Amino acid sequence: MLSVSHLNVFHGNLQVVWDLSFHVNKGELVTMIGPNGAGKTTTVETIAGLNKRATGSVVFDGQEVLGRPPYELFTRGLALVPEKREIFPSMPVIENLLLGGTQNPHREGALDRVFRLFPVLRERERQEAGTLSGGEQQMLAIGRALMSEPRLLILDEPSTGLSPLLTGQVFRALEHLGREGMTVLLLEQNVRNALAMCERGYVLENGRIVEEGKSKMLLNDPRIQKAYLGI
Ligand SMILES: Nc1ncnc2c1ncn2[C@@H]1O[C@H](COP(=O)(O)OP(=O)(O)OP(=O)(O)O)[C@@H](O)[C@H]1O
Ligand SMILES: [Mg+2]
Repeated sequence: MLSVSHLNVFHGNLQVVWDLSFHVNKGELVTMIGPNGAGKTTTVETIAGLNKRATGSVVFDGQEVLGRPPYELFTRGLALVPEKREIFPSMPVIENLLLGGTQNPHREGALDRVFRLFPVLRERERQEAGTLSGGEQQMLAIGRALMSEPRLLILDEPSTGLSPLLTGQVFRALEHLGREGMTVLLLEQNVRNALAMCERGYVLENGRIVEEGKSKMLLNDPRIQKAYLGI
């Protein structure tokens, strides 16, 4: 579904992602974990067409897409839930959701599925999005991405700022999507939950992948236990 090879990304003249190679197969839940500043956001923004200063290869659904504009990636079926959520605060919940589905002829069905996944959004349909709690706003951001019925859903640290309870709710929703066959790339610093949920993971440090493998293996890795799990 997604295959990234030898990706290098720059902010100005500063290189922040180095020779990155990883892949996500259709129907897989894959996580990329790593500390602040590791280059997670830079990597997925590049994949989504938001950063042009990059070399290497990004193949999505069999086609080279590196350097293609964000709109094209979106219409091809790649949806990114950004780190800052970027909902429209003064618009009602329902309008935010419908904006995510403007290109989707099946948006009624998509809306129904979003409401079943996050019932609180249905309850708050008419409420201004900016007045939702942090967790509800994250659900809205995910819901908006799902309105396009993406083939690949990329989430940039959805648990940031959420209580453990709400984090659990968001992760359970992602697990549910995974069981329904959605392909997910999850960026997280919440390493324990991310590895518990995903089959495979990559560890990104200083713009490089330093470890990769089955989540079970990563959870038992002494270096990861020490650096990320406080063991
Ligand atoms: N617009 C920018 N201009 C210059 N440097 C940037 C820019 N955006 C990010 N960087 C730098 O690139 C590096 C990677 O940042 P990035 O945001 O990709 O990391 P991250 O893994 O997403 O971190 P976090 O977990 O804190 O979100 C950091 O050193 C950061 O300072
Ligand atoms: Mg980030």
